[in-house]
Amino acid sequence: MMEMNSESEFAVLKVGGKEIKLPVVVGTEGEKAFDIAQLRKETGYVSLDQSLTNTAVCYSSITFIDGEKGILRYRGIPIEELVKTEAFVKVAYLLVHGTLPDEEQGRLFSRLLNKNSLLHEDMRHFFDHFPRGAHPMHILSTMINALAAFYPNVDLLSMDEDIELSTARLISMVRTMAAMAYKKSIGEPVVYPRHDLSYCANFLNMMFDSPVAPYTICPEAVRILNILLILHADHEQNCSTTTVRTIGSAQVNLYATISAGISALSGPLHGGANQEVVEMLRHIQENGDVKKYVDQVKDKKNTQRLMGFGHRVYKTFDPRAKIIKKECHDFLRKMNISDPLLDVALEVEDVALHDDYFISRHLYPNVDFYSGIVYRALGIPENMFTVMFALARLPGWIAHWKEMIGANTKIVRPRQVYIGKRLGEK
Ligand code: ACO
Repeated sequence: MMEMNSESEFAVLKVGGKEIKLPVVVGTEGEKAFDIAQLRKETGYVSLDQSLTNTAVCYSSITFIDGEKGILRYRGIPIEELVKTEAFVKVAYLLVHGTLPDEEQGRLFSRLLNKNSLLHEDMRHFFDHFPRGAHPMHILSTMINALAAFYPNVDLLSMDEDIELSTARLISMVRTMAAMAYKKSIGEPVVYPRHDLSYCANFLNMMFDSPVAPYTICPEAVRILNILLILHADHEQNCSTTTVRTIGSAQVNLYATISAGISALSGPLHGGANQEVVEMLRHIQENGDVKKYVDQVKDKKNTQRLMGFGHRVYKTFDPRAKIIKKECHDFLRKMNISDPLLDVALEVEDVALHDDYFISRHLYPNVDFYSGIVYRALGIPENMFTVMFALARLPGWIAHWKEMIGANTKIVRPRQVYIGKRLGEK
């Protein structure tokens, strides 16, 4: 557990003839915040910060981001290092437990993942009753919510072993559910997980193996999938993680909490952007005019945005996008794949990065800009892109849920400024 530095610094707020001191808290990387917890009690005022653009909602020791410098670290380790040396499963352990596993811890965690990789057979029948063409994110959030009905002990999650078990169950089963949802959607028999395969190899095998055409596991595909999953594994207080922490604070069971996180992630302004990026690139390719499209998204009369660009926190290059862009090039080259959408993406990036609209607003490619092109090259269908994001983000959500529960967090309950009708007003 990291320690937070404290300083005797404070801010003075003068309001209604009263003067109060707001303590300043300083994070381990020097980020400063005013603690306003007593503000209403002492002054009668609340703070107003719509969409929480300037509000820290918790202390956290999981992930550090410096949006100005483009830094992202999990538990103090730069993502650039993690993608070079670690497997996604180890990074998941790092996020949830705070340190990378030693050999024995790694072995036990892998064993637990394997043991919990199969879905309850009764749950398999659920897939038969979703409408054909249902979005896999809707299927996934429903299935995860249903886990509490099959494993009701989740409500008793107080002992460490229970948390460990539910963590492994979620990380392992979500992969199985995602692959099964895909197989069902194309009318092929489901492929069961195998204990002899790594997490990523297993997923690719469950997606692409078939009784008539056995899948040969490609190490390059496993490698790049591993990188993508690591890069998406956590991103501090984003919309879905905040959802998880908020819902979890009501002591809702872990599965329902994660299901809510998945729903939040499905939005096009959040995880759903990776699918929208590819749709946008295809649209631009068909219409053949990058400059015209970029001009359209700058026009305030349009609600349309340049998907895969901009970020609430990063005001420079998203460090994840930098890695994915390079890996995407290398992977396509090694696999001898030529994707015209990559050329369109490079052109869009070039036009936007030289356009004053994007420069002045610090809008750069985010993690979603190139990830869809890699997923396409892996053979993953577009409606599964956001599911891939959910699969990757699970360890982050669980780590935040665990941290929130461990800190005895009060139920999250913001205030509002009421601007509706007064009593008797017509
Ligand atoms: N295209 C065009 N203009 C944009 C874009 C964009 N992608 N992103 C922001 N802007 C403009 C806004 O219109 C606004 O302009 P204004 O100051 O003239 O009004 C300005 O930049 C600031 O934008 P905000 O909406 O205030 O930024 P916010 O932090 O609320 O939004 C977000 C961040 C949602 C990511 C936004 O940049 C966006 O919609 N991007 C496209 C969707 C996307 O790629 N989402 C994935 C994000 S990463 C993730 O969730 C994994």
